[in-house]
Amino acid sequence: MLKYLSIDKLSSIQREFLNFISPDKFEELLGLSYDKYSTEDILSNCPSLGSVLNDMGIPHDAISIGINISPPNWKAPIHIDHLAFTRVSINIPIIGCDGTYVNFYRIFSEGNFDNHRDNDRPLLFRKFEENECELISSHEVNLPYVLPLSVPHNFDNHKDTLRVMLLCRVANKSIVATDIVNKILNE
Ligand SMILES: [Fe+2]
Repeated sequence: MLKYLSIDKLSSIQREFLNFISPDKFEELLGLSYDKYSTEDILSNCPSLGSVLNDMGIPHDAISIGINISPPNWKAPIHIDHLAFTRVSINIPIIGCDGTYVNFYRIFSEGNFDNHRDNDRPLLFRKFEENECELISSHEVNLPYVLPLSVPHNFDNHKDTLRVMLLCRVANKSIVATDIVNKILNE
């Protein structure tokens, strides 16, 4: 399922990100945000993240970074992401991720197509009710990891603190980057 990445620059990435966007802004950024801070801005303010991508051989223009801030005691719906743009994400925990989990599920229905939009970008995905699914596995996500977006999943922040995760979505159109992340997933 997901694959953990060993990244020795994790604490530098976290420090640089928290210097770039201070925690007092997190409340207004709750949810998944792609538009308030561009990928270029995030990478230029978090050079350690750019350097990790370089070490992995992933071109920066293959990545679109979302900032995912979830409130305390919140569980995302079970879903499959919109897969036209990206099928794999490299996720980097920033704060509040200890003791939070990504869960994978087996599904027993087609689910419902959901029609979210983030600016003009449609983020269509299929959502499933808990009673249409069976839990396959659960993974604590306090380390960077590669997440396959086509497997039904959700995340669970059942703690009383905000959770901040960077989602570095790998564009399907970058064959170089897609090969690299698929190799990691298949290792
Ligand atoms: Fe997802």
